[in-house]
Amino acid sequence: MRIFLIGFMGSGKTTYGKALAGIMGYDFIDMDECISRGRQKSVEQIFREDGEDVFRRHERDLLARLVKMENIVVSTGGGVPCREDNMELINRHGLSVYLKLEVRHIVSRLLHSSGRPLISGKNKQELTIYVRDVLKKRSEYYERARLIIDAWNLKTADLHREIQQAAL
Ligand code: S3P
Repeated sequence: MRIFLIGFMGSGKTTYGKALAGIMGYDFIDMDECISRGRQKSVEQIFREDGEDVFRRHERDLLARLVKMENIVVSTGGGVPCREDNMELINRHGLSVYLKLEVRHIVSRLLHSSGRPLISGKNKQELTIYVRDVLKKRSEYYERARLIIDAWNLKTADLHREIQQAAL
């Protein structure tokens, strides 16, 4: 099985993904990390030096490779489901799980985070407006996930159970 965790930045895709992969004995793949390793540059550097479109192309190329792998849990970048037919590709080849959070919870998680070029330098008010606006546009893609899970105070064991049931 291939599990794709999707959702906004700060929704816990990487944290839950690692824990889930551990429980299931699957490999864990973080798309940002994989791209960064492959290009020998941080995500921030890729955005700054090559531009966002190039980064999105790397995401698409990586996704096309991931859908051929077996027994993986993937933490997708927050923008992956919203480009081209990425969401169709994910749903055709894997189980998509949307880790859903309210704007205020996303903001509280992101306020002191670093390494995310789209939100760097934003204060709380700017971040709140950004998250609200972008989430509004992205929700229609995220909501195409096979499983939609409330990710606030979510326990990995509960996430695992839901995934097992959905995979039956
Ligand atoms: C992005 C999310 C980031 C990373 C890049 C762009 C986005 O990943 O891919 O900074 O467009 O939402 P995370 O969702 O893992 O933070």
